[in-house]
Amino acid sequence: MTAVFVTATGTDIGKTFVAASLIRHWRAAGRTVEALKPVASGFDPASAAASDPGVLLAALGRAATHDDIERMAPWRFFAPLSPDMAAQREGRAIDFGALVAHSRAAIEGAKDLLLIEGIGGIMVPLDDSHTVLDWMTALNIPLLVVTGSYLGSLSHTLTCLDALARRNLTVKALVVNETPGATVALVETARTLTRFVAPVPVVTLPRLPSGETSHPAIAKLAAAF
Ligand SMILES: Nc1ncnc2c1ncn2[C@@H]1O[C@H](COP(=O)(O)OP(=O)(O)OP(=O)(O)O)[C@@H](O)[C@H]1O
Ligand SMILES: [Mg+2]
Repeated sequence: MTAVFVTATGTDIGKTFVAASLIRHWRAAGRTVEALKPVASGFDPASAAASDPGVLLAALGRAATHDDIERMAPWRFFAPLSPDMAAQREGRAIDFGALVAHSRAAIEGAKDLLLIEGIGGIMVPLDDSHTVLDWMTALNIPLLVVTGSYLGSLSHTLTCLDALARRNLTVKALVVNETPGATVALVETARTLTRFVAPVPVVTLPRLPSGETSHPAIAKLAAAF
């Protein structure tokens, strides 16, 4: 059994895109894949199929039924805010212990591959005192870190990797996902990051045409598990 946690330097960077592409690749290669997106904010039940859990379910070849969404993403909140704020809007709070226990049970029960998508960046708050970093530390499974190629990403990425290293977390690969409209070339960003993050493998993923999810970068990432 192999588990991987997909995290990022921030929100809207490409975690779900990379996760869904990997799931499709693994399934096409005959692997048994399970996925979790335990915490989802900005979740509108009226457009569940377009939500992160909906996109991951589609990659798994399943429909976004209420039961499947509930299994994949038990902590769902309507407001498109950080999880702590989104929960507070509904008079709720994420029980960090329950989140860790739920994730651990999935890791222990997985048959072959389990992918967990985090939420936002590595230090987005989950409740009054825990962030995603605490969640990842508690699970201590290998990470895939997704970052962008926008101007400013170098510092964000190195800061992120430094925080992960301080918790002794294993970064299996860094994915530099092309930011639309970036003023810096994807390859230049990746080349600079490679100098600083070695021996962590750096993989570059260009913006793919609509509907496409296969790319040599995804195949390379998939082969790491
Ligand atoms: N390499 C890519 N090629 C084409 N489209 C992409 C690529 N990467 C991301 N996208 C698209 O960009 C948007 C944002 O990506 P995505 O939803 O994967 O980010 P995220 O990090 O999961 O965001 P969130 O923090 O909301 O979970 C999505 O519409 C996604 O399909
Ligand atoms: Mg996402």
